[in-house]
Amino acid sequence: VVLGAAVSSPNGPASSDRYQCVSPRLGVLSARQDRCPHIVFILVDDQGFRDVGYHGSEIKTPTLDRLAAQGVKLENYYVQPLCSPSRSQLMTGRYQIHTGLQHSIIRATQPNCLPLENVTLPQKLKQAGYSTHMVGKWHLGFYKRGCLPTQRGFNTFFGSLLGSGDYYSHYKCEGPGMCGYDLYEGEEAAWEQDRGLYSTVMFTRKAISILANHNPRRQPLFLYLAYQAVHSPLQVPARYLERYKGIPNLHRRKYAAMVSCLDEAIHNLTLALKRYGYYDNTVIVYSSDNGGQPLAGGSNWPLRGSKATYWEGGIRAVGFVHSPLLVNKGTKCRSLVHITDWFPTLVTLGEGTLDEDLSLDGYDVWEAISEGPAFPPT
Ligand SMILES: *[C@@H]1O[C@H](CO)[C@@H](O)[C@H](O)[C@H]1NC(C)=O
Ligand SMILES: *[C@@H]1O[C@H](CO)[C@@H](O)[C@H](O)[C@H]1NC(C)=O
Repeated sequence: VVLGAAVSSPNGPASSDRYQCVSPRLGVLSARQDRCPHIVFILVDDQGFRDVGYHGSEIKTPTLDRLAAQGVKLENYYVQPLCSPSRSQLMTGRYQIHTGLQHSIIRATQPNCLPLENVTLPQKLKQAGYSTHMVGKWHLGFYKRGCLPTQRGFNTFFGSLLGSGDYYSHYKCEGPGMCGYDLYEGEEAAWEQDRGLYSTVMFTRKAISILANHNPRRQPLFLYLAYQAVHSPLQVPARYLERYKGIPNLHRRKYAAMVSCLDEAIHNLTLALKRYGYYDNTVIVYSSDNGGQPLAGGSNWPLRGSKATYWEGGIRAVGFVHSPLLVNKGTKCRSLVHITDWFPTLVTLGEGTLDEDLSLDGYDVWEAISEGPAFPPT
């Protein structure tokens, strides 16, 4: 191919229109790879260690099982015991003790948010040329405009600023007299778009429409899809309950159905990644934000403890990476991987820069995940 010459391709614009991104990380690994990968980060709320089929659960998750089996399962993977701390680490690569977010979650009435001076993962990827989108639950504060996802690195945002609202009405109550509508498009309430859809279905549709409206050959995409599922309240469309009639505990039964709906959502998302031409050049990361809550149907067995504790059951999470770009597919990564590691790992994969003094707590773990024990993480 003569550089600069337009070569027509059957499935897209001339190849000279393609963005170039020679990632040293991936370039050596795959000759096909001349473009930064699209990154899809799926964060799930309160899914416990035992709440995925491949950990022996009675909950059926055929999609997650297949994606994990064809990718790399993270079997020594740690997060924080609660939502806002975990999310702050994902966004900054720093422990919450450095961002002031070590005091539980951010409540609706608290004048607090992820410090504006801390650079975020989407900011870094945007600088590197990515189109950045967030769908789902933020929970990193909103007391002033500068705290909103669209001010913190995302080109677009559709979702809730808190968590655990009603799955259909998208109202959130945090105590008597403290109820509010919690669904936004960008920086405005999403009344217009709201069809009262179950949030797992609604967020998936939105994510798919983002994929459909972006040209994967022109610009790399970062999609942060932070599901409300499978946090309480235990609400689920009836059809997902059928298959769990055999589970006697009603909380567990509804929760199992919620996980099944989530599994179907990821199936739909994966089909869309293929249909719209992303899949071959995409890295999908799947992670829970903290341990399961047994009082709301979750299970962390055989790990002790639950969400909001520092026992293994609170901080050891379900996680895997699925991508055609992985070198050793179908393996388990037993190296320690921590939620702070995604920041340096994904920024490096996306050819972003980490040269300024970010004092990161995380490490780039791509080789440990993709190539295995020969590359133990620091
Ligand atoms: C992050 O924010 C904290 C709190 O404002 C500040 O002390 C720290 O220097 C910031 N770090 C970076 C790397 O931005
Ligand atoms: C998956 O796609 C099917 C077919 O479009 C749709 O009926 C279903 O509601 C979707 N499921 C979820 C969880 O988004």
